[in-house]
Amino acid sequence: MKPRKYFPLGKAYGTAFCNRVKEVDWLTGNLLSVKHTLLVAPRRYGKSSLAEKAITNAKLPFVKINFHLCATEEEVAQIIVNKVIKLIGNAVGQVDKIITAIKKNVLNLSPKLSFGDDIATLELIPKQHINQAIVISEALLLLDKLLHEKDKKAVIFFDEFQEIAKISKQSNIEGAIRTAAQEMQNLSIIFSGSIRSLLLRMFEDESRPLYKLCRKLKLERIAANDYKKHLNKISLETWDKELAEQSFNEIMHYSSTHPYYVNYLCDILWQECDKLPTANDVKKAWAIVVEEEWSDASKEVSLLSLNQRKMLKYIATHAAVNLTSQETSRELMMATSTTTSALEALIEKDYIEIDGSGHYKIINPVIAAMLVME
Ligand SMILES: Nc1ncnc2c1ncn2[C@@H]1O[C@H](COP(=O)(O)OP(=O)(O)O)[C@@H](O)[C@H]1O
Ligand SMILES: [Mg+2]
Repeated sequence: MKPRKYFPLGKAYGTAFCNRVKEVDWLTGNLLSVKHTLLVAPRRYGKSSLAEKAITNAKLPFVKINFHLCATEEEVAQIIVNKVIKLIGNAVGQVDKIITAIKKNVLNLSPKLSFGDDIATLELIPKQHINQAIVISEALLLLDKLLHEKDKKAVIFFDEFQEIAKISKQSNIEGAIRTAAQEMQNLSIIFSGSIRSLLLRMFEDESRPLYKLCRKLKLERIAANDYKKHLNKISLETWDKELAEQSFNEIMHYSSTHPYYVNYLCDILWQECDKLPTANDVKKAWAIVVEEEWSDASKEVSLLSLNQRKMLKYIATHAAVNLTSQETSRELMMATSTTTSALEALIEKDYIEIDGSGHYKIINPVIAAMLVME
């Protein structure tokens, strides 16, 4: 038995993929009807897993671009051009056979073919003094036009897209992407990212180029009920029995149903237990998770200012509602304006979120556990 197969720490595929049925259907529908989508959630909530599942469902060729690796507008333009070329090859046809169509559809890029042993490779070289925004929009529109001529569809998956706002301060790249995206007929884009406040501003601020371009999904954690079916199925396969109610509840409790930590915890639990786990086994497995993740979690906390740390600790140890009240300020011995700005910073940086009932919650359950123990 290989727990990692059921509980991967990377993307969830196949039997490891729990529920998200509605989300997968919705996203698959968007891809098939060429509607652009924005997927927003804190990191490790399952955006990439969901996107790749829907793309596989839709059976469309795709490329994924992760903007975490880029530092300049030139690098962004280069990676987009490279991936566009790759997708032309995968979705439209051999580049040497469609070179006339390629030439017809570009103004500011010069296509160049080179011939290797048995395949031709394409380069798209920007004409001199052309800015990166033009390179990006022309490359994307080229791909869309070629797809349109062949009556084919494809998907581009822009991952960690919030990085674009950091790289391109004047919104040049956002503008270039909008110019292309609003004309697309056969190519759909999935924009995905964490640091929700930054990402949402890019799409919800009227003055920003990407305003109202997409259908939007704020991906939540997977519901405990859905996990119940999923974990019990795996429990049956492993121990011939469903999990005891109490053990299951403890798994949900310790992991706070955070998808990454559910997998982390269950991976250890399944590895450690020869027979059906007890609530105490879950507790022990969670202690291992916390121990293994302790140094990463404390590094994350150390990036915060002292006031933000104080606030985070307060949230970990109190029923955290009305945190901007006078009373909380008094308890924390901080001015109301300081508590407010600490809260805003913690939300902005994706350390905390507010749930449906107005409670502030620490997103990472290991950080929460650590702050309670310290
Ligand atoms: N539908 C799902 N069912 C079970 N586990 C999932 C699901 N989606 C994501 N996960 C798990 O959650 C963690 C984060 O997934 P990932 O797709 O990389 O998230 P993100 O792209 O939001 O950072 C991984 O451990 C992954 O296996
Ligand atoms: Mg991801």
